[in-house]
Amino acid sequence: MSGFEVSGVDRIDATIEVPGDKSMSHRAAMIAGLAEGTSEIRGFLPSEDCVNTLGAMTACGVGCEVLEEMPGYGPTAMRIEGRAMRLAEPAGPIDCGNSGTGMRLLAGLLAGQDFESELFGDASLSGRPMGRIIKPLGEMGASIEARGEKEGCAPLRIRPARLKPIEYAMPVASAQVKSAILLAGMSCEGETVVIQPAPTRDHTERMLESFGVRVTSDGSRIALRGGQVPQARDFQVPGDVSSAAFWLVAAAVRPGSRITIPGLGLNPTRTAVIDVLRRMGAQIEIRESGAGGREPIGEVEVRGARLRGTTLERGEIPNLIDEIPVLAVAAALAEGRTVIRNARELRVKETDRIATVVANLRAMGGSIDEFDDGMEIEGGGPLSGAEVTSFGDHRIAMAFAIAGLSAQGTTRVTDTACVNTSYPGFATQLAAVVAGSCNPDDYRLPTRAVS
Ligand code: S3P
Repeated sequence: MSGFEVSGVDRIDATIEVPGDKSMSHRAAMIAGLAEGTSEIRGFLPSEDCVNTLGAMTACGVGCEVLEEMPGYGPTAMRIEGRAMRLAEPAGPIDCGNSGTGMRLLAGLLAGQDFESELFGDASLSGRPMGRIIKPLGEMGASIEARGEKEGCAPLRIRPARLKPIEYAMPVASAQVKSAILLAGMSCEGETVVIQPAPTRDHTERMLESFGVRVTSDGSRIALRGGQVPQARDFQVPGDVSSAAFWLVAAAVRPGSRITIPGLGLNPTRTAVIDVLRRMGAQIEIRESGAGGREPIGEVEVRGARLRGTTLERGEIPNLIDEIPVLAVAAALAEGRTVIRNARELRVKETDRIATVVANLRAMGGSIDEFDDGMEIEGGGPLSGAEVTSFGDHRIAMAFAIAGLSAQGTTRVTDTACVNTSYPGFATQLAAVVAGSCNPDDYRLPTRAVS
């Protein structure tokens, strides 16, 4: 079985390139595929999740010419020939792999098409709640049947339906649910409205707008009128701040260390991890360099310090939900107590991330109390090298590789092939950090043109 072997390192001094943003890569494949005309997408994340979404769109008749790839992984640049909102019936069921984003957004996008389709996923995805999209899409008139062994779970069978717009107040703050409804709303006559209980990542709104679709938002009420056809455009996907978070923590917990991440997406609905690390005492400089397709981009440089514990605010949770596993590692290495509550959503991610973080931190000697909606971590004690598993969850694998960099002795993280779900190239960069390399070439992600 795949694994990482990590020993403690004293100092890191590196400039690390991270791959394209996962959330934006899914949306770029979908929205360019729905658009009228040909879009060139660059910086696409060549991970299993996003490649599956691209495969779903091509299965529905969208044209895709690959221009560049990351050898051994998948495409990083492509020309997408959209279908002006009218997709074609796929030949068979569509595989969404491990991706909740892929399945939920595709369900919204397919609900208003005039053919039947089926979405399925791996064992983890087949256990995740789909009722949260089936309910609002059902209110719009969609016909979605959850056919999984577990109630309300995938596979999803979607039958053709004429959709009507709704106004929907989401019970959970979820960008996936919001996006599924907005994408379904594109096929309705009239205005679809989503009201969110707390701000969630707004990439769908920004990307639709950059493809010429009018979306109005006051941050809590998001509305769009159906019948608009996105217009093709070129889009550069910036680096993924959720992937960068592993390196931000690796440097932040280590006085005398520096890590710089160029070309990073700095959408304010995604950068709470930077605010939290600053609050914990890390020195972080942001050099914003502009925006692409309404998404701010820049370089982030973090310098390490002795961190102190903090309390994550309720309103911050949706903004840093994917970064909590690695923030828990930072908390274990910080002085004092860190409180992470109001985060029950962690229990329905790729794994139950409250249970998996608690199990692994305890295995490494961390002091942590588990609650139904989160955890409290008493930091300051040294972590000890141990054998831990990813439980098949990419973010758990990477968070505990970062923990291993600060532990006494050797840490072995098993079952790490799942890292390819979001971060192809992580293992090579991790090996360079463990080896103490300062050579920028060791931290570049290789790409090659496809002729
Ligand atoms: C995502 C939204 C978040 C996040 C996931 C990606 C997205 O999920 O955890 O990794 O791309 O919309 P929820 O919106 O369900 O919280």
